[in-house]
Amino acid sequence: MTHRLVIVASGNGSLAQAIFDATELDVDIVAVISDRADALVLSRAQKAGIPTQVIPMGDSRQIWNGQMISAVEQYSADLVVSAGFMRILPAEFVQRFPTINSHPALLPDFPGAHAVRDALAAGVSITGTTVHWVDAGVDTGPIITQMEVPVLPNDDEATLHERIKKVERGLIVATIALILPTLEHNA
Ligand code: GAR
Repeated sequence: MTHRLVIVASGNGSLAQAIFDATELDVDIVAVISDRADALVLSRAQKAGIPTQVIPMGDSRQIWNGQMISAVEQYSADLVVSAGFMRILPAEFVQRFPTINSHPALLPDFPGAHAVRDALAAGVSITGTTVHWVDAGVDTGPIITQMEVPVLPNDDEATLHERIKKVERGLIVATIALILPTLEHNA
């Protein structure tokens, strides 16, 4: 039976695009939700015929938390995939909906919003990408899969991030395929 997937993303959406294009996944991508009206991921979704919703963060985090929860509830999502979503999801959200996140570093090293920059600053020769379950912390949930990516001598943040993202696109799709059989159906 096909699982219902909601993707949350804030930016370019190349990871989301890899999921849209993954014909091997038995999923129905029921919505792409973004906190940013100008996110390129929204037009990528529209081109793929996927409904989109924008839920901007206003003055009240409480209100935003509630809006995120009711949006995903309305889509009866079996799985939420955070693919470049740059907001912390509320604890109640991640307790309610199984949620995974793709992170551009080998967690538990370099959590947070500047993982690639932080890995470069630390001078590591190997970094990578992690897909993990999202819990109430920042990039602290149980790790599902990881892949290493080398740091090259002349890397800057952009070149290293692009090398990581090439690997991330494959890993997020493979990880979704891996966990689908363990998920319940909501609709
Ligand atoms: C990815 O590298 C993802 O891991 C990262 O944003 C990028 C999104 O790329 N997410 C985070 O840093 C979350 N803390 P995309 O917009 O091209 O899909």
